[in-house]
Amino acid sequence: MTADYFVRPMTPTDVPEVERLTDAAFFDLDVRTHRAGWPAPEHRSEARAAEWRARVRHLVQHDPRGCWVAEDDSGVLGATVSMRRDTTWLLAAYAVRPGLQGRGVGRQLLDAALAYGDGCLHGMIAASEDPPAVRRYRLAGFTLHPTMLLRGPVARADLPVVERVREGSAGDVPLMDSVDRQVRGAAHGVDHEVLTRAYRLVVVDRPTGSGYAYVAARGGPYLLAATNRRTATDLLWEALAASSPDEPVEVPHVSAANEWALDVGLACRMQLWTSGYLALRGLKPPAPYLHSGHFL
Ligand SMILES: CC(C)(COP(=O)(O)OP(=O)(O)OC[C@H]1O[C@@H](n2cnc3c(N)ncnc32)[C@H](O)[C@@H]1OP(=O)(O)O)[C@@H](O)C(=O)NCCC(=O)NCCS
Repeated sequence: MTADYFVRPMTPTDVPEVERLTDAAFFDLDVRTHRAGWPAPEHRSEARAAEWRARVRHLVQHDPRGCWVAEDDSGVLGATVSMRRDTTWLLAAYAVRPGLQGRGVGRQLLDAALAYGDGCLHGMIAASEDPPAVRRYRLAGFTLHPTMLLRGPVARADLPVVERVREGSAGDVPLMDSVDRQVRGAAHGVDHEVLTRAYRLVVVDRPTGSGYAYVAARGGPYLLAATNRRTATDLLWEALAASSPDEPVEVPHVSAANEWALDVGLACRMQLWTSGYLALRGLKPPAPYLHSGHFL
């Protein structure tokens, strides 16, 4: 890295290089923080890399002033991707090239993204376990809530019959935005355009409770929100039922405010681990809510 790198807005043409950089940074982080009993670190598959690029192109399009790269003569050194939804600022991606970390590039990138959130009442980040990352977030005024992860295969015999859940569609966006405003204080709005294309959507819409879940390709929730625990529990069971019986499935991003999710995972003998943080500003941990890494 030369001393004369600069920070500039990200453009759609940067996205492939930024994808490769973040993949390298997260693979390096997974190797550094690997724990016995966890799956071996893996690079993103081409399918997951394509999904990543689609999400970030969407955010560069809708939140151009929230997306930044640091660059020198050798290319992109780091990147940050953030968005504003209602009165909340959210960080979707943040990485500096391995080997160049710890020299202040990340701080400049985060400051640029945080400036996009000036005037926002709330802030939300799905934080990794990287000590430099959480140092940056705390120094930026975020409260760090440790989060948990459930992992394991789900036996068919453990699955209860869930009757109130139906398949969802783009027509459910107003319902989902209303649930999100009640539960996390901000709608996902335009992000549903990407989410409904990438994930199966399941919905509960009853007088006694409403909610939705985007289901990950291997089963388990990518994002789940509901107005009460009973509805959230039904949605989580439905998401777990989409897994293969012999394949481990994950329920990530469980904060201590979401014990209903722990109870579901433990009922089907999934393993419970600590993993990362939910970093919040001006906001309590949302519940019943399981955030996604990118769109929160
Ligand atoms: C998080 C990340 C983007 C920060 O970028 P960076 O260029 O390393 O950040 P900076 O150098 O500006 O700041 C890092 C801070 O951590 C400190 N630090 C460096 N190594 C550290 C370590 N091993 N333990 C604790 N703190 C450390 C640095 O001194 C610096 O603090 P200071 O500015 O107050 O002195 C980068 O480290 C990264 O890509 N990490 C892996 C991916 C990741 O976890 N991203 C966050 C996703 S939520």
